[in-house]
Amino acid sequence: MKISQLFSVEGYGVVVTGGASGLGLAYAEAMAENGAAVTILDIDGPRIEQEVQRLKSRGLQVRGDVADVSDHPALDRAIDNAYKAHGRLDVVFANAGIDSGPGFIGNWVGTERPRNPQGALENYTDERWNRVIDINLTGIFATLRSATRIMKPQRSGRLIVTSSVASFQCEPAIGSAYMAAKAGVTHLTRCVAQELAAYNITVNSIAPGFFVTNIGGGHAKNPATQEAVAKVLPMHRVGFPDDIKGLALFLASPASAYLTGQQIAIDGGWTLGAVD
Ligand SMILES: NC(=O)c1ccc[n+]([C@@H]2O[C@H](COP(=O)([O-])OP(=O)(O)OC[C@H]3O[C@@H](n4cnc5c(N)ncnc54)[C@H](O)[C@@H]3O)[C@@H](O)[C@H]2O)c1
Repeated sequence: MKISQLFSVEGYGVVVTGGASGLGLAYAEAMAENGAAVTILDIDGPRIEQEVQRLKSRGLQVRGDVADVSDHPALDRAIDNAYKAHGRLDVVFANAGIDSGPGFIGNWVGTERPRNPQGALENYTDERWNRVIDINLTGIFATLRSATRIMKPQRSGRLIVTSSVASFQCEPAIGSAYMAAKAGVTHLTRCVAQELAAYNITVNSIAPGFFVTNIGGGHAKNPATQEAVAKVLPMHRVGFPDDIKGLALFLASPASAYLTGQQIAIDGGWTLGAVD
């Protein structure tokens, strides 16, 4: 197989949850720019509309649908509609996620890292915990289950989960529900990969480090935060959504056919340890 075919997703039918912004939008672009037909599922209708129009004006095959990953019947319907619209379902990115508010330390990095009582365990409400788990863990489970209904009978498919370096590294500026949910999706990826391997369905996860997106109200867009984080990252720069496209293409294409149950961190070296 030629190298161009090895990395081809030409003609694929793809679904991306949380695809209207940030990393999900980058996955959608990476697929559509390489010849796939893509459905963006998201709760944010106006943003779906805006991004679908923008990508269509570039001649890409993209459609959108409003769906909340915590509304499982609606999610199933949206995935069924994408399958019907594209005539096939080859790749599903289980990506939608939210932040969990502050952790027990106020700042991401720096010499000033005061304790933040709002993020302390004893003040962590059930409501906050349940919302993060519903979307970031149960929402991933529901997306994998929904895609499997279609992929298992066809005996092929790629399931790609967005976890986080927070799945294996405690980050005190992030609320603990986020880290628990991400650790959960990482292990879920492994177990579902084992179950579905016999059906020619691979399941892998991408663990991003610090990426500039709209998560948490766009706190990562603050130049002072970016500068402080970049200072301690071994590569001395934060990640941008374009940085994730190559890995997405690898995991979606024939190039990764024999790879399953794995998590790949993409973090500018963050998890190797901070440097000054
Ligand atoms: N940005 C980072 O540094 C970073 C790091 C590690 C992991 N992640 C993970 O990447 C994924 C994407 O986040 P992002 O940083 O691109 O954020 P983002 O806010 O830019 O994009 C997330 C998208 O998901 C959508 N969404 C939220 N809740 C939803 C729901 N219930 N149903 C459907 N769609 C929903 C939002 O409307 C938004 O369009 C998340 O799972 C996040 O935890 C992000």
